[in-house]
Amino acid sequence: MPALVLLGAQWGDEGKGKATDLLGGSVDYVVRYQGGNNAGHTVVVGDQKYALHLLPSGILSPGCTPVIGNGVVVDPSVLFSELSGLNERGVDTSKLLISGNAHIITPYNVTVDKVTERFLGKRKIGTTGRGIGPTYADKINRVGIRVQDLYDESILTQKVEAALDVKNQMLTKLYNRRAIATGQVVEELMGYADKLAPYVADTVLVLNEALDDDKVVLFEGGQGTLLDIDHGTYPFVTSSNPTAGGACTGAGVGPTKISRVIGILKAYTTRVGAGPFPTELFDEDGEALRRIGGERGVTTGRDRRCGWFDAVIARYATRVNGLTDFFLTKLDVLTGWEEIPVCVAYEIDGRRVEELPYSQSDFHHAKPVYETLPGWSEDITKAKSFSDLPKNAQAYVRALEEMSGAPISAIGVGPGRDETIEINSFL
Ligand code: GDP
Ligand code: IMO
Ligand code: MG
Repeated sequence: MPALVLLGAQWGDEGKGKATDLLGGSVDYVVRYQGGNNAGHTVVVGDQKYALHLLPSGILSPGCTPVIGNGVVVDPSVLFSELSGLNERGVDTSKLLISGNAHIITPYNVTVDKVTERFLGKRKIGTTGRGIGPTYADKINRVGIRVQDLYDESILTQKVEAALDVKNQMLTKLYNRRAIATGQVVEELMGYADKLAPYVADTVLVLNEALDDDKVVLFEGGQGTLLDIDHGTYPFVTSSNPTAGGACTGAGVGPTKISRVIGILKAYTTRVGAGPFPTELFDEDGEALRRIGGERGVTTGRDRRCGWFDAVIARYATRVNGLTDFFLTKLDVLTGWEEIPVCVAYEIDGRRVEELPYSQSDFHHAKPVYETLPGWSEDITKAKSFSDLPKNAQAYVRALEEMSGAPISAIGVGPGRDETIEINSFL
């Protein structure tokens, strides 16, 4: 089983960080293939809590080589502050590899992200404001800056100039902001070149050679399926492909190498930022999920929107990613509810719909059709095997599995590494 992908099956924050960290001990490489420091992955090791944004969660496993692939967008200032934060806590980060083809989030990309959101007003996406969308836009427009450009100042200057040509027109004439000077940007970026150099590598070659040598490579999705630019709830999405196919383009590895795709699935649903969310709760249950689940964004500190489990979305994630299995997280958060509603289908303009509608207007009108499952009140955080779970919790897991279209290999009953029930040799 040389290559596996681990990704979010909902709208992000499913617990990818914990799952990646768990697998990190038994794989050789952990690779981020898309996104940037918009991600917020929490890993709890013993009494230590780590919040990772740009770095692969495998960085906390000593034997594992963390890789930032070509599909990632890198903010160098964030990279170095995250690295030094880990170094201060005794984590060795010297094995990190960064693709020379990864694009750089420049200071003007961050500015553009913030001013466009402000300009959109009520129609804003609710981005993390980290410059992610504008950096990917530059990449696709072929005016992006790549890590390797830091090693040729003349080319870098020409590229920054080309990128700023249009942006300065927009900033000054449309958004009433000051123009950004090419020299200033080039100077700032060149200031990172020497520090970055030891990490820069031909990661495509490294990973393919590793796979040829039967090493195990884990691709860690940055966000969730429904935030995917192609398969998510566009336009309320991020600007890259966290879905399984993104691992191939974002790391330069062929699909024939991937034998397992694990979907991380929260036992209920959350979302940060704007966009449709059929099972969202605006009542005390929503408030309780937020409180008990600690549902506050790791990156922006925003409260997460909370709602019941949505099986339509889980089925969709199984299909678009070709999921082989799920890791169900945060089952412990549901302890204490007498009954737990689960969305099994939608009602759209009077029709019952079993699958995610492709039309944005239909999805905006989707009302959840609920089935109610009996809850449990016993503390499950100490459960070590499936049979330790109360009967109703077991039935909840089996019902979700049945509805979601792939087997559940592991269950999270708390944030810690050991608060995990393994069902089908997950690790
Ligand atoms: P990610 O972005 O997918 O990595 O997820 P986040 O780290 O943003 O959010 C998941 C949160 O749930 C973190 O605070 C984790 O420590 C926590 N967590 C993960 N798995 C479990 C679990 O099974 N139970 C509980 N109670 N918390 C969990
Ligand atoms: P993790 O890794 C939840 C959301 C933002 C916004 C939209 C676009 O913690 O699962 P962007 O800054 O990416 O252009 O914002 O995507 N978003 C996330 N929501 N978890 C994340 O990452 C997210 N990364 C981006 O809130 O709605
Ligand atoms: Mg998160």
